[in-house]
Amino acid sequence: MAIIHQIDKKKLPKHVAIIMDGNGRWAKQQGKNRVFGHKQGAKSVKEIVQAAGELGIEYLTLYAFSTENWNRPKLEVDALMALLISSINSETKELIENNVRLLSIGNHNALPKNVRNKLFQAIDQTKNNTGLTLVLALSYSARWELTEAAKKIAGLVVDHKISVDDIDEKIISDNLTTTNIPDPELMIRTSGEYRISNFLLWQLAYSELYFTDKLWPEFGKEEFFKALMNYQSRERRFGKTSEQLEHNI
Ligand code: FPP
Repeated sequence: MAIIHQIDKKKLPKHVAIIMDGNGRWAKQQGKNRVFGHKQGAKSVKEIVQAAGELGIEYLTLYAFSTENWNRPKLEVDALMALLISSINSETKELIENNVRLLSIGNHNALPKNVRNKLFQAIDQTKNNTGLTLVLALSYSARWELTEAAKKIAGLVVDHKISVDDIDEKIISDNLTTTNIPDPELMIRTSGEYRISNFLLWQLAYSELYFTDKLWPEFGKEEFFKALMNYQSRERRFGKTSEQLEHNI
């Protein structure tokens, strides 16, 4: 039976987050430069967005550019920014046709103005779509996000809008960039690296983690379905015992 038919549509994660890693190594294996790997990686992005939308997954967050990625050679950073613009240009129409809503988290002020403008334009054009929400993490790092949240919450206290004792998990969640987005139930990382790399540190507290040796440009629908199958085989206990879960106590 094709693997897609083995997936239980009633037990899908609402939110899948992905660290897309291995574009550079994949390109090297092909004897090509890193930018070639990123271009191939953009094709995997398209395939996984389509698959997630078709399955009825509600949120897909992709780590497309980390705060640390600014330290890469300028040529590579420029190529990634150009790839973002060309991908938004070529894909926005299809996002609209497929009812996909685009969002982005990250320090957008650090992005070049033309990238920011394109991104915000696509976000605006897709804002009323009701299918998959695609969240691009751009110039994002969780420590940056948590630092910003701390500043915002401190501001609320200074302005007497809340007291120190009011600060709870909800206030922290509400002041992250992912406000109103449920925490991911599943986080996937490709390329055989077993790290979280400053991605959604707060939001991944209870997520199932799935690591695969496949490099991102090799990660297609079948690989995505395998990750979902693996997720569905796990028992999510949230600190409870199996017996408590079984008897709903
Ligand atoms: C990691 O591979 C990948 C990135 C830093 C960038 C991700 C970008 C894309 C998948 C392409 C465009 C994205 C969109 C949303 C259109 P790496 O370069 O770290 O690979 P390596 O670890 O093998 O060097």
